[in-house]
Amino acid sequence: MTAAVKVTVIYYSATGHVADIAHEMAETAEKAGAEVRLRRVRELAPQAVVESHPAWAAHAAASAEVPVAEAEDVLWADAVLMGSPTRFGNISAQLKQFIDTLGGAWRKGELADKVYSGFTSTGSPHGGNESTLLALMHSFHHFGGIVVAPGFTHPDKFVDGNPYGTAHHDAGGTAPVGEITRNAARVQAERVVRLAQAVVAVSDGSR
Ligand SMILES: Cc1cc2nc3c(=O)[nH]c(=O)nc-3n(C[C@H](O)[C@H](O)[C@H](O)COP(=O)(O)O)c2cc1C
Repeated sequence: MTAAVKVTVIYYSATGHVADIAHEMAETAEKAGAEVRLRRVRELAPQAVVESHPAWAAHAAASAEVPVAEAEDVLWADAVLMGSPTRFGNISAQLKQFIDTLGGAWRKGELADKVYSGFTSTGSPHGGNESTLLALMHSFHHFGGIVVAPGFTHPDKFVDGNPYGTAHHDAGGTAPVGEITRNAARVQAERVVRLAQAVVAVSDGSR
């Protein structure tokens, strides 16, 4: 018998690509038997700036129903999948600000011993997807997290080719999230659920 696990998918997305990956991962984790929370982080950009960019404004309106992430969503989970678009090769300020709200929980050791894994989207194929995923992992290490990367653990990973996490590139906003990225997202979410089940199964109840 496998242990029931709780998975939170937390993301920032301005124009919807990272959100698409987040939805795919949440659905996959649920199908794999996990209890799932899907959360977006709070927007920090001024409303006028969001509204000046049609794709950004459209996505903001379309995702209004997704609950905003709180620290408790991380504390609740056995596994956390976090995603952000690349911003100059790094994670977005919006996701970083959310991570910074976790300082109190970090100090109490409440972020440790959970499974963490990351995903991203870039404008160009070599525009910083790996550096963004690795930047995200810096925080996971500080948490005392169990960092789960997809590696090349499934035939689909030899197609998308990114062992650090799911990474789409949107070709300057012209390429929607397609099957290659969705397959990578499914492989990663299934692996996260499987490994979180293993961690929960051997846990002594201290988490
Ligand atoms: C301020 C800013 C910085 C960006 N920096 C990069 C970058 O360094 N490399 C890159 O390939 N794309 C970059 N992009 C493009 C986005 O990362 C890319 O379009 C991403 O797919 C958007 O994801 P989203 O649709 O979930 O918001 C940048 C976009 C913005 C607005």
